[in-house]
Amino acid sequence: MKKSGDKRGEHYVIRGGIPLVGEVEIGGAKNAALAIVAAAIMTDETVTIDNMPDVRDTNVMLEAMQGIGVVIDRVDRHTVKINGSMVKNVNIDTDNIRKIRASYYLMGALLGKYRNAEVPLPGGCDIGSRPIDQHVKGFRALGAEVSIEGGIVKASAKRLQGAHIYMDVVTVGATINIMMAASLAEGRTIIENAAKEPHVVDVANFLNSMGANIKGAGTDVIRISGVEKLHACTYSVIPDQIEAGTFMFAAAVTQGDVLIKNVIPKHLESITAKLIEIGCEVQEFDDAVRVVASKRLRPTQIKTLPYPGYPTDMQPQAGVALALSEGVSTITESIFENRFRYVDELIKMGAAIRVEGNTAIIEGVKGFTGAHISAPDLRAGAALVIAALAAQGVTVIDNIYFIQRGYEDFDTKLRRLGAQIDEAADSKDIRKLQLRVVS
Ligand code: EPZ
Repeated sequence: MKKSGDKRGEHYVIRGGIPLVGEVEIGGAKNAALAIVAAAIMTDETVTIDNMPDVRDTNVMLEAMQGIGVVIDRVDRHTVKINGSMVKNVNIDTDNIRKIRASYYLMGALLGKYRNAEVPLPGGCDIGSRPIDQHVKGFRALGAEVSIEGGIVKASAKRLQGAHIYMDVVTVGATINIMMAASLAEGRTIIENAAKEPHVVDVANFLNSMGANIKGAGTDVIRISGVEKLHACTYSVIPDQIEAGTFMFAAAVTQGDVLIKNVIPKHLESITAKLIEIGCEVQEFDDAVRVVASKRLRPTQIKTLPYPGYPTDMQPQAGVALALSEGVSTITESIFENRFRYVDELIKMGAAIRVEGNTAIIEGVKGFTGAHISAPDLRAGAALVIAALAAQGVTVIDNIYFIQRGYEDFDTKLRRLGAQIDEAADSKDIRKLQLRVVS
């Protein structure tokens, strides 16, 4: 007989109302890893990357890279060796690469190394319009010709020449992409109004370990002196700030007590500040944070902003907590236009939320009740899981595929904290689990 949790499936069946208690270990940052594996092909030597998250998005990215001749050697679950010397094709058009947003990092990597790249327009979560004009602007400033034909971005350059580039919006993706291409350009590039997210710094550190010359990552002016070539290195991806933040909120909404290990507390400051504001106790250690919630949460105001502001990727999780708080809160989403798709699902569980434009007005309720709901995207899906953990009764969540894009062993980690969460493959399975968890 299979143990609880052994079954792989498409739905989660969750019995809520159990405070999460214990310790959880955070993995490598998905969004840093995606850029780092792309950047790894910029040398012909073998690069070793450690603390790789084993999640669907990074696996799809690695498979897509294999498709163009990159040699990928999975040394173990969290270590991968990458060799880009055999890249045979700068024209990437596979189903895999269309699935994920981060495929756009191959543009900067290939353009830098081969002065030529053809990559389909990025996919990813449907969280609103996701233009790439700033990427294109940066590549053009470096001397590339860029066109978009039939859904493919084509960039080529006889030579790449360093340039002074002012970003019109703060964008993580474009900052990283330009940083990659500029690392192998001639002369000096200055990126102004650069994104400051921890994964921008991580990718800069990685490129520097390969021999690039990047200064100022983590501030809004990044200076890059182009080098002729990059070389092998061994690098460990930073801990995932968003996975950590998700567990911090899971502790908060279930009135739990969770020690979240292998984190960089500095990266979590805006999340910690909000949790303290809403009445949680947060203790910081060198590489861990402990979140304790022992009373009903308080309302607050949140506006998503680029780092070091409150992250858009943590907005749905906060929405769940505020929906259970004692009073009226507002959340303003200022980065993406379609990131309140979890609200309709939460309303099915008893939440009282009204969305007006880019603001959600949340009237806290005393509790949620289990319902049959659906994950609309990655972070919203994770937020609905924590809502279900706080709810009375059983919740079924469809489309957990989205959650698996970015959370490694989410259900296993939650079970270790005492949660009752199982995967179900089909409706028969769901029924069985519903009966089991209520009995
Ligand atoms: C990255 O997306 C992350 N994805 C997202 O995480 C995250 O939400 C986002 O950064 C913000 O932190 C990956 O790293 C793969 P942006 P990205 O470029 O790079 C506008 C998750 O759940 N913009 O920083 O696409 C854009 O519309 C995902 O893990 C332009 O106008 O985000 C947005 O309003 C979801 N022109 C703002 O900038 C451009 O050329 C920030 O986007 C590029 C972006």
